[in-house]
Amino acid sequence: MRTQVGIVGAGPAGLMLSHLLHLEGIESVVLEARSRKYVEERVRAGVLEQGTVDLMIDTGIGDRLQREGLLHHGIELSFLGRRRRVDLTELTGGKSITIYAQHEVIRDLIRARVAAGGQIIFEADQATVHDVNSASPRIRFRSPEGQACELKCDFIAGCDGWHGVCRSSIPEGALACYERTYPFAWLGILAQAAPATEELIYTYHPRGFALFSMRSPEVTRLYLQCAPEEDLANWPDDRIWEELRTRMTCADGWAPNEGEILQKGITDMRGFVVEPMQHGRLFLAGDAAHIVPPTGAKGLNLAIADVHVLARALAAFIKQGRRELLDRYSEICLRRAWKVQRFSWWMTSMLHCFPDDSGFDRRRQLAELDYVTTSRAALTSLAENYVGLPME
Ligand code: FAD
Ligand code: DHB
Repeated sequence: MRTQVGIVGAGPAGLMLSHLLHLEGIESVVLEARSRKYVEERVRAGVLEQGTVDLMIDTGIGDRLQREGLLHHGIELSFLGRRRRVDLTELTGGKSITIYAQHEVIRDLIRARVAAGGQIIFEADQATVHDVNSASPRIRFRSPEGQACELKCDFIAGCDGWHGVCRSSIPEGALACYERTYPFAWLGILAQAAPATEELIYTYHPRGFALFSMRSPEVTRLYLQCAPEEDLANWPDDRIWEELRTRMTCADGWAPNEGEILQKGITDMRGFVVEPMQHGRLFLAGDAAHIVPPTGAKGLNLAIADVHVLARALAAFIKQGRRELLDRYSEICLRRAWKVQRFSWWMTSMLHCFPDDSGFDRRRQLAELDYVTTSRAALTSLAENYVGLPME
């Protein structure tokens, strides 16, 4: 088999890259370890930045997003039992965010690729990348039927997420890794309950952070700060609701609506960046190159921003023989990635309880929340990061 760009991973990064390359007239093949059903149902992110939404609409895959996505013009920060609103749209000259589940983005992208005759090989097992320093790198894998296959490419895009193989196929000496682990995790649930208010609420509470979000007019999404490597077995439904009520109930009586819990999961909190994001003809994008803690809802959006740059860079090289953008791919993406890392770290630090926090730290956090929600300068900084920095 042969293609111009071999893409490992059918997450948001890999599928969007394949879609953008197709619009440039460049052929690609996507190899995905899991089944189509699995990736189309995997519950993850839910907040799309303005730039991600614009890109989906501008490239012809935004119809369902525009019909079913929930447009949000603000978020709320809650502390000491009171909520304060951040008017995202007013503070950013008209920008907003849209609530639309990551697996819906995946469905839209897969449908568009399949309709355009694009090739996605699901259940491609044991992928390994070879000869990335040559002009014809290759990906070896096993087909769903167990047959050994080889895909010859001009370029390889490693879009295989945090646990993927592409990053680790780069020789150790060629990469620098920067990492921060956080001493807590998030327990997330989806509940069959109408959202009790229209906008997201980030809550600071002495027992730990909590987040109110949603997926549709019938489904609420909630998260609780919990211990790292927490065992879900310790969290029967009643305990989850009691903890959410304790942390989230406001002085005015507001609390999330409750209902059947449809799904539960634990998310680790980590910041990680690899430098550079390219080696020979292998280019890393999305979670394969960097992870941010989820506070601030940035991971998916950062993955989309990477492949936006990569698609343009590959097109400039393949169609016009210009290699400047491709050479600068890593530099361009890392500039944005570190700003997003900073924002996610800042939101995480402001809103979570750390195990060794003293009374001093807690008062400092409350002072920061008070400042951030009353200073126009601070509100503007939060808002412009939250709706998303420019793609490049
Ligand atoms: P992935 O989505 O991880 O996709 C990688 C793909 O590669 C997967 O399909 C995987 O199966 C496949 N793969 C892996 N190894 C191989 C292999 N060897 N061969 C073939 N295929 C392979 N981000 C936001 O922007 N907003 C949010 O609100 C948000 N909330 C989140 C909430 C939770 C609970 C979690 C867990 C994450 C959240 N994120 C959020 C982060 C976001 O989900 C990720 O950053 C995003 O999925 C990254 O996309 P990606 O395409 O780089 O990687
Ligand atoms: C959601 C996830 C986040 O990480 C966040 O900051 C806001 C919302 C969500 O899944 O809805």
